[in-house]
Amino acid sequence: MNSSQAKQRILELQDQLNQYNYQYYVLDDPAIPDAEYDRLFRELSELEQTHPEFLDSHSPTQRVGSSALSKFEEIRHALPMLSLANALDEEEMLAFDKRVREKLNCASIVYSGETKLDGLAVNILFEHGQLVHAATRGDGETGENITQNIKTIASIPLVLKGNHIPQRIEVRGEVFMTHEGFKKLNQQQLANNHKTFANPRNAAAGSLRQLDSRITASRPLSFYSYGIGDYQGQLEFNSHTQILSQLKQWRIPTSPESRQLQGLEQCLEYFTEIGNRRLDLDYEIDGVVFKVDAIEQQQQLGFVSRAPRWAIAYKYPAMEEMTRIVDIDVQVGRTGALTPVARLEPVVVGGVTVTNATLHNMDEINRKDIRIGDYVFIRRAGDVIPEVVRVILEKRGEVSKFSMPANCPVCQSKVTRQEGEAVYRCSGGIYCSAQSVQAIIHFASRKALNIDGLGDKLIMQLKQTGMVSNVADLYELSIEDLKRMERMGEKSASNIKTAIDNSRQTTLERFIYSLGIREVGEATARALTQHFKDWDAIVSASMEQLEQVPDVGPVVAKNIHTFFQQEHNKEVITRLRQAGIHWDDVQTEADTTLNGKRFVITGTLSSMSRDDAKQKLLALGAKVSGSVSGNTDYLIYGDAPGSKYDKAKSLNISLLNEDDFMLMLNE
Ligand code: IVH
Repeated sequence: MNSSQAKQRILELQDQLNQYNYQYYVLDDPAIPDAEYDRLFRELSELEQTHPEFLDSHSPTQRVGSSALSKFEEIRHALPMLSLANALDEEEMLAFDKRVREKLNCASIVYSGETKLDGLAVNILFEHGQLVHAATRGDGETGENITQNIKTIASIPLVLKGNHIPQRIEVRGEVFMTHEGFKKLNQQQLANNHKTFANPRNAAAGSLRQLDSRITASRPLSFYSYGIGDYQGQLEFNSHTQILSQLKQWRIPTSPESRQLQGLEQCLEYFTEIGNRRLDLDYEIDGVVFKVDAIEQQQQLGFVSRAPRWAIAYKYPAMEEMTRIVDIDVQVGRTGALTPVARLEPVVVGGVTVTNATLHNMDEINRKDIRIGDYVFIRRAGDVIPEVVRVILEKRGEVSKFSMPANCPVCQSKVTRQEGEAVYRCSGGIYCSAQSVQAIIHFASRKALNIDGLGDKLIMQLKQTGMVSNVADLYELSIEDLKRMERMGEKSASNIKTAIDNSRQTTLERFIYSLGIREVGEATARALTQHFKDWDAIVSASMEQLEQVPDVGPVVAKNIHTFFQQEHNKEVITRLRQAGIHWDDVQTEADTTLNGKRFVITGTLSSMSRDDAKQKLLALGAKVSGSVSGNTDYLIYGDAPGSKYDKAKSLNISLLNEDDFMLMLNE
């Protein structure tokens, strides 16, 4: 390849990779498999190495970070970065809307509603479409130059693309870490014996303010833009909504939750709706932000003491609170793992009264130096079980250390700990009633055999009264047996009996998951099913064969192998099969009826759960995502569908009600 051909190819590859990045991060619609992306990326890297004269600091290869700085330089923002006034209750929201309406002399205002991400504000300057520099908010006038770090964040374009690229634009937004990224990072930190982060915000801050941008490059940071500062360009913006939509067209990620709202009433609805979904979002928010949408009205309203009069942050209750640990108990799980649980002085966190927090394991207790009697910060995060963030040492008075019991608190069997494992376990196995109750609860749970009505309390009763000692016994229960349990009428007993009967028809994947083999979750159960396609093949697989399955390592292979060797397990499984548990033949991936079609499911379906509907679609080769975008092919809606329905409708996406959906499945 001669020099001009190389140059040509470099530009072509840069363009292609930028396009794929945009489809992946901004449109949430990956265009090519990861492996293909990696291949093109490598080709570009190699070409740039052989032709360093064509290396450009905006090439997608230049995101790996560079050598460490001794300190951050200062950058002055072209326009100051302001802060937001807060509303803490509905009354304050009403007052805000009233002020705005009076000042504008308007009966009702069009607002833009968006999530208030809990991360770090940054200001990114683009000139003629190229990323020039980026800074933290700092004091609002000047911030720290974090250009090298910002360039490592894959979702932030180094070059803008599209029509009317401005001469100059300050893009403003929040750098944050998703729950998933946060979890992964902390696991990595633990594995490398580094300090873990208390929450995603701290993790994002710690990752962004690294003098060595190579460290930032290794951290899972995300970015959403919520507005602009200085702007010199051809386009005139009339509304904030238009700004967000234009940013997205230039390839800058914006929040998928932003929405235009009509008047105060819709703002309050938006606040409630997002609040209900707050724990399901993949990132932390501490409120929602409302902005007067029309730029002209914004200008009329102006500013007061460094905050715009045209915007307000309506905050949700905090997710972190202080309380005291009154005791530490130990819970025995399905696999015998002992989990220490802190009993707390009750405290309201994010609107819910919390009395317990998980302490995970003994290592965690030692690392955080948690003792009985300590004052601690408690936090509720994405996955609901509250945890202890840290001890408030300044408040420590009389405390006592906790140690793991030598015997299981439930069955008194010896407690053991394997070399190199953080977890202590009860050695009682099926003879420990805590373990066997948990095993039955797991078997009946939604993602396993999904036996409606067979809840934890009832299972405990059935176990205590000796009606059921393992999962196979469930299929021998009669309505009469069930009626003997507390508060169990004819109707409920008969419903539960029906639910048990219906659970006989299941899928291989669910059945494997339901057995509760250690470390075999949904994903592994699915991988095993897809790989072997057949029950007998799984049961008789050797360790080597099991290790062929994606994501199954030696430890999990051993767990699976050992499980199927145990006499007790063999016996229970034989009885389950005799009781009539069965499944259809595994759909091979060749079923491509809905290949690649993109579905979103919303609202309540009457004939199945959303999860079941999703499984059915996946089995037919469809893709199912959580949010509606321009790439969605179909929206399936049940009762009370909410905003996704409106959005899909406005985007002219095919809408299927439950009947349409059933018809489609039957076809
Ligand atoms: S607008 C002129 N929108 O909240 C208004 N800020 O309390 C300037 N934030 O420093 C900010 N999400 O870091 C705006 N959708 C959003 C936001 C948001 C998070 C942060 C931002 C800002 C702080 C103000």
